[in-house]
Amino acid sequence: MTSTDLRARAQAVLRLNDMGEFTKPAPRQYPHQWNWDSALIALGLAHFDLPRARIEIQSLLRAQWRDGMMPHIIYPAGAADYFPPPEFWQTENLPHAGKFPSSALTQPPILATIIRAIRTTHHEFQISHPEFSKLLAWHRWLHTARDADGTGLPCLIHPWESGMDNSPLWADALDRITPRDMPPYKRCDTIHVAPDERPLVLDYERFVHLIDLGRRLRWEPRALLAQMPFLVQDVLFCSVLHRADEDLRALAIELGEPTREIDAWLARTRTGFNARFWDEARGLYLDYDVRAQSPIRVNANATFAPLWAGLATSAQAARLVAEHFENPRAYAPDADSKFRLPSVAKNERGYSPRRYWCGPIWIQMNWLIAQGLRRYGFDAQADAIVRDALALVVQSGFREYYDPRDGSGCGATDFSWSAALTLDMLSQDFAPARLESAIIRHNQGRL
Ligand code: DGY
Repeated sequence: MTSTDLRARAQAVLRLNDMGEFTKPAPRQYPHQWNWDSALIALGLAHFDLPRARIEIQSLLRAQWRDGMMPHIIYPAGAADYFPPPEFWQTENLPHAGKFPSSALTQPPILATIIRAIRTTHHEFQISHPEFSKLLAWHRWLHTARDADGTGLPCLIHPWESGMDNSPLWADALDRITPRDMPPYKRCDTIHVAPDERPLVLDYERFVHLIDLGRRLRWEPRALLAQMPFLVQDVLFCSVLHRADEDLRALAIELGEPTREIDAWLARTRTGFNARFWDEARGLYLDYDVRAQSPIRVNANATFAPLWAGLATSAQAARLVAEHFENPRAYAPDADSKFRLPSVAKNERGYSPRRYWCGPIWIQMNWLIAQGLRRYGFDAQADAIVRDALALVVQSGFREYYDPRDGSGCGATDFSWSAALTLDMLSQDFAPARLESAIIRHNQGRL
């Protein structure tokens, strides 16, 4: 396969999942529009259809709630075999909800970063003042409506907000929750994907129970902060937000908008982030359980996300790489595991190489962490995980996630962001040409 073939296949996946105004993450498993999926998909679209990338972003922004929240699922497609359906969220009569049927949770706010990235290579790609105001309102909502302790580090009220739904990161927090008075529901996520690649029944019950609690609180931000039993500050989410604040600031300057409010968010996160998340003894970043008032002592690959945001010192970055990234017991390949980067360290208690966010490799994490490694000068390590990501899509197709042991595909097939980010990783700006040819040579034997 040549890189031209790989590009053509990636574009075909995005065309297959194209619903006109938005792109489904996958043909059957995810039939609606997801927030950070859509942003990452727009980046892929921009490599071959800039007007369509703009439509993707516009359709995402129009779902914003009146209070600034950007929902994680938007339901433009009507009925489909997906749970939860739009009515399950009970948002119809809420004064602060949006006009479009949507979920009542948010997701990692990567959109400002994506818009800036597209603008860097396509100067004709404009952002309007009203679009900028929507992004600003979302970031403001995260730094205020979700601020439980004055740090401005937003709290997540449901594991789905992290994007890493069933990560072992959430195991202890979820264990403290006993679902009661459960509403009737029927899972659809195991219709098209093998149950052993999806969250456990017990996890799912708690996901649904938390939605039920949220709707009882009418999704009112103050009540959610006060009463939701799941309340965490997450390293990946806060890193994505900080990087997006940086990018929003750059967009503000281009548009002649004031930056003072954004500057204050940036300064506050620079002060609070390392104090909250860095564990000096273990040399890594740990999430924080706000309800339990304690660090979450689980090593997930989100620990490398602060590099993407420029939040680590060079000494912290060096420890992350030497003690974790290059450690074969944690993330580096070993006799049993050929590919990186597992979503959870292999020596973690909850590591499970095919189960969703418990260990499989996700293309968007490799894409994000590679850029972080480059930001700190770890080019060889960045090249290694870009090469592995591209090797995985060549070997197993555009799957949702991959088994680190042998690179076999798991979860949904024809997964949009795996295709979109392949297009980005094949671009000259992302990966040097020598890397691209190495990938193709590496895979020739297997095709
Ligand atoms: C799912 O359906 O598994 C999604 O991740 C929820 O956002």
